[in-house]
Amino acid sequence: SWEGRSPARNYPAMACEYFTHKGVLFPCLDYSPENLSYVENEFQVRDDDVFNITYLKSGTNWMVEILSLIRCGGDPGWVRSVLNWDRAPWMESWPGLEAALKYPPPRLLCSHLPIQLFPKSLQRSKAKIIYTLRCPKDVLVSLYHFSKLVHLFKDPGSLDSFLEDFLSGNVPYGSWFDHVTGWMGLKGNENFFFITYEELQQDPWGSVRRICHFLGNELSEEQVAAVVENASFQSMKGNKMSNFSQLSDKYMDHQKGEFLRKGICGDWRNHLSETQSQQFDTVYQKRIDQPKPVPEPEL
Ligand code: A3P
Repeated sequence: SWEGRSPARNYPAMACEYFTHKGVLFPCLDYSPENLSYVENEFQVRDDDVFNITYLKSGTNWMVEILSLIRCGGDPGWVRSVLNWDRAPWMESWPGLEAALKYPPPRLLCSHLPIQLFPKSLQRSKAKIIYTLRCPKDVLVSLYHFSKLVHLFKDPGSLDSFLEDFLSGNVPYGSWFDHVTGWMGLKGNENFFFITYEELQQDPWGSVRRICHFLGNELSEEQVAAVVENASFQSMKGNKMSNFSQLSDKYMDHQKGEFLRKGICGDWRNHLSETQSQQFDTVYQKRIDQPKPVPEPEL
């Protein structure tokens, strides 16, 4: 059993440091190699689990809100009374893992893990996976700003040096390119659904309907409208259960900015120079447009 064997529980609240686990960087605060190994090798995925999987800053918490509201038929009671990280715990951090293990099924869980570190027991389960992708240049810009606020992550330095780190995967949770190519290897699997942040923006109603269909939880038009409305950027910004204002100062400097920063598509155009954008495109073309064959995921 997990009880009493969480090694990270006693870790000091050490900010701004990373460790490498199987070639991927993780923050020391709330993470440890032991926990990650437990999650990968011993965590038991259930058939009725729903996993919200993303690379960092790709719309994870927007999807948490959508999935929470779908569960309640659009009724905002749950999202207004329970913190988002309790509604959908982050299973690879130790507080999230403890919450996941205590969660009465059916569980709603979040993860940023690359596929090779995800629980092996997924392979034998019928759990549903929702993977949200976002334009990686917007991910970069969002992560750059976020890294300045949260104590989990190192200060990003200049945008130029952060761009180098991002493109080479020298950031927490590793390379965006590896994450996306790894998880998209499950495309076509009936329990795998993917959507983009941009689709959610352009067609929230259609997106919510498609998610409902995938979950086998069809809602009426009014209920879909209530999901869209209550999961909007403005609704989330005004909801202290969803806007991270309740997050302890141990994790975030609330004076420096807000979690819900802009919530738009294409903000990278306001930040990246032509040269930086081209540098990104060169790597993107190599990794995504003409990828090397990816090894079969272990799952
Ligand atoms: P920006 O920094 O570009 O504003 P994650 O939840 O994966 O950490 O992603 C955070 C990003 O999603 C932030 O992007 C945040 O503003 C945006 N976001 C969160 N909720 C949103 C919503 N309801 N609508 C649009 N964007 C949202």
